[in-house]
Amino acid sequence: MSVKRGRHFLQIPGPTNVPDRVLRAIAQPTIDHRGPAFARMTREALEGLQRVFQTAGPVVIYPSSGTGAWEAALVNTLSPGDRVLMFETGHFAALWRDVAVRLGLAVDFVPGDWRHGVDVDVLHATLAEDRAHAIKAVALVHNETSTGVTSRIAAVRRRLDEAAHPALLMVDTISSLASIDYRHDEWGVDVTIAASQKGLMLPPGLSFHAIGERALARAKDARLPRSYWDWAPMIRDNAAGFFPYTPSTNLLYGLVEAERMLFEEGLPNVFARHARLAEATRRAVEGWGLELVCANREERSNSATAVLMPEGHDGDALRKNALERFDLSLGAGLGKLKGRTFRIGHLGDLNDLMLVGTLGGVEMALAASGVPFKREGVARALEYLSK
Ligand SMILES: Cc1ncc(COP(=O)(O)O)c(C=O)c1O
Repeated sequence: MSVKRGRHFLQIPGPTNVPDRVLRAIAQPTIDHRGPAFARMTREALEGLQRVFQTAGPVVIYPSSGTGAWEAALVNTLSPGDRVLMFETGHFAALWRDVAVRLGLAVDFVPGDWRHGVDVDVLHATLAEDRAHAIKAVALVHNETSTGVTSRIAAVRRRLDEAAHPALLMVDTISSLASIDYRHDEWGVDVTIAASQKGLMLPPGLSFHAIGERALARAKDARLPRSYWDWAPMIRDNAAGFFPYTPSTNLLYGLVEAERMLFEEGLPNVFARHARLAEATRRAVEGWGLELVCANREERSNSATAVLMPEGHDGDALRKNALERFDLSLGAGLGKLKGRTFRIGHLGDLNDLMLVGTLGGVEMALAASGVPFKREGVARALEYLSK
């Protein structure tokens, strides 16, 4: 086995690179999770999350991956057989649908081509037709990590309001929070779902909800069975700085440090940095003469870019070369896109030179894999970034 030197390039769209400051915070000794120092840390962590979600309402932290938070959003607010409207924007929307179906919900799954975001006209028409208000919730993925497509949640809110429909709005921001602008309160979202391992620059293992008043009210009558995920004991104990079960103490150290880093930079600057790195990536793809999975310019993701492989070429073979030859990890094509795409993650703790290294690795891997392309991608990115 060959020995690798230098830093591994982890450029999948999450988990992302964990900054040294966060790693050092996580390495502190574990403390008593029922003591005063822990309570102070919980308060700082929760207040920081409110700023990141842009909400004044309650936020909860689960010791789970994002999938747990999907389930938690549904079981806290819905009852067996309730209708839920979802959109097939990609792999993660399909997985969330599966969770809802397994829980006994009746899902209206609007088909999609995995190249577009949520169709707000279909959303409006479906809700306007539902005069009996049988649809209890609309559950959407803000940023489809599998396709690099970002749905327009502000527009979703407008169309929901136009239809005057009382369905709850639940949004998965797992690969957008802290990298793409997102406003829980202003956009009238009832439950926002997030996880630690992407824009928040933490290892996997924590997930989050921002919870609106309407969702809290619905939770009182919701009859899907819930225990571990129940908001009520969580919110009650959080008020004193504690949790109803043993929390992930060391990941919470990391969360507080990551929040401090985000606020030092300022959220608008964080979003602008992601927009710039994403644009450089898209210019590189254009320079290679390759096509984005995302078909609509307005929906191009600022946290992940999915690139279509030319006909007859396999994205996984390219990824294998990138890893073995250049120690670069790229995202795989998922679900229906398996082998047909590769994904570049450009979110979290990332700067211009890290991105240039990544794009250089992709360009070399394309050449090493015999993929037909133009060697103009890195040059285009450099030109853009050095302006
Ligand atoms: C948009 C989105 N939703 C949900 C998930 C699932 O989260 P997890 O793998 O942390 O359970 C992911 C994972 O990458 C994701 O990108």
